Amino acid sequence: MTTRSLLTLGLLASTAFAAPNWAATSTTTVTKTKTTTEHETKTKTTTVHETKTETETKTKTTTLKPTVTITGSCSASAPLSSSTSVSSTSSSSSSASSSASSATTSPSSVISATSTTSSTINTNPTITKTATDVPTATASGLNVAAKNAGKRWLGTAADIPGTGEGADPYYLAEFNNANEFGEATPANTMKFFATEPQQNVFNFTGGDYFVQQAKASGKEIRCHNLIWANQLSDWVTSPAVPWTNATLTAALRNHVTKVIEHFGDDCYSWDVVNEPLSDSPAGAWAANVWYNTIGEEYFFQAFDAATQAVKANNLAVKLYVNDYNIEYLGNKSIAMQGLVKELKSRSLQIDGVGLESHFIAGETPAKADQVANMQAFTALDVDVVVTELDVRLNLPATAASESQQKLDYYNTVSACVSVARCVGVVVWDFVDTYSWIPSTFPGQGYGDLFLQPGGANTPLVKKEAYDGVLEALEGLAEIAA
Ligand SMILES: *[C@@H]1O[C@H](CO)[C@@H](O)[C@H](O)[C@H]1NC(C)=O
Ligand SMILES: *[C@@H]1O[C@H](CO)[C@@H](O)[C@H](O)[C@H]1NC(C)=O
Ligand SMILES: *[C@@H]1O[C@H](CO)[C@@H](O)[C@H](O)[C@H]1NC(C)=O
Repeated sequence: MTTRSLLTLGLLASTAFAAPNWAATSTTTVTKTKTTTEHETKTKTTTVHETKTETETKTKTTTLKPTVTITGSCSASAPLSSSTSVSSTSSSSSSASSSASSATTSPSSVISATSTTSSTINTNPTITKTATDVPTATASGLNVAAKNAGKRWLGTAADIPGTGEGADPYYLAEFNNANEFGEATPANTMKFFATEPQQNVFNFTGGDYFVQQAKASGKEIRCHNLIWANQLSDWVTSPAVPWTNATLTAALRNHVTKVIEHFGDDCYSWDVVNEPLSDSPAGAWAANVWYNTIGEEYFFQAFDAATQAVKANNLAVKLYVNDYNIEYLGNKSIAMQGLVKELKSRSLQIDGVGLESHFIAGETPAKADQVANMQAFTALDVDVVVTELDVRLNLPATAASESQQKLDYYNTVSACVSVARCVGVVVWDFVDTYSWIPSTFPGQGYGDLFLQPGGANTPLVKKEAYDGVLEALEGLAEIAA
């Protein structure tokens, strides 16, 4: 399945490009024509691998029926009845929508009052709006603003080496700008298929390159991920000899142990198990080769091996569980609380919960709902991180949907700012050019903080979403969509 060829970029790609002056770039008049959407479509090829498997995840969760649900987790979460959770979920959607419709007139006056320049943005051939690419907030970058807000960093996923990103000097200059990003998450290079292509034969070439590239600009790394349903090696999914509980458990533990050992404290944290929970029914165990063979013990075996590897190597690395649709209080989030409690009751190391936060403009949980959900986790004595934030919308973007998207970014980042143990926010890449969204959700896109109007290998332009993140980090009053 791993048809992706990882180019050896070596010193070529690690050459430091002079960082373009983004502020200067953003003051120029930018016409966002439909070439933007064409380009987003074109960029599918660079993220095919990630995209393909994410699609598999979503499909599987709706079609497979795990035979065991986490009933203990559900009942253990006494304070949150399921009916409360459900209504809170639906009200969050409607409140997001209503705030969108009730506040459509404000942004241009707000922005023009606080900015020195404005430019005409033509978001599609039929809609013209007056706005600005100049952030209304003042920090020199998102990571600087995040630190000022008491967060550890503002970070981004990146898919290097071996993709267009790794050869795009404008992408790399922004990625390497420590004022913008203080954390990096490898989108693919540390996943199972890449690190253990044959059983007990490890390949850390791509992962090591990523570490070197991220550390060169002082970034911490959320290493991602050890055990997941997808992007596995063929020897796991199509074994020559059928797995037994014992043989697959041994293979799982060996992978977790060896990979943690190799990267050591270059990892700020590891996503030990990725997406363990299902959406149908919400909060059940997700079916995958691990679960189907080992049962729910696979999850605890992974954390047990990770806990022991951290201890044996005297590491400071933090251990996380990461999932989506756990960004608001609902059955899946409550089931995740149950997993955290169970890990703790077994004295296994669990430091945090990753809230993926792949959102849709106008359907994002309200800020208060995200705060309440974060607090429900931190009350269990774990940290939270917004690990994969992006906000997709229907193409082409309109003035209204772009403003809504800005508000949605603002709300999630602002929620993290207001919860002390929300460590930081990580966006799932930062330029539409390299986003996984368009090929995974046809007709949707425009989900990231920057775009490249001229296509790959051309200057980046900040979108309104960037301003929304910066304004949230700087604690500016809630913006109107
Ligand atoms: C190891 O991975 C790198 C990409 O990260 C790839 O170029 C190389 O061919 C791999 N080595 C082997 C022996 O498969
Ligand atoms: C697999 O083995 C473990 C013990 O090593 C056990 O706890 C678990 O229930 C077994 N899983 C299944 C599906 O039998
Ligand atoms: C939530 O879980 C409860 C059982 O814990 C179940 O009765 C209810 O139908 C679930 N709700 C949803 C929306 O899945």
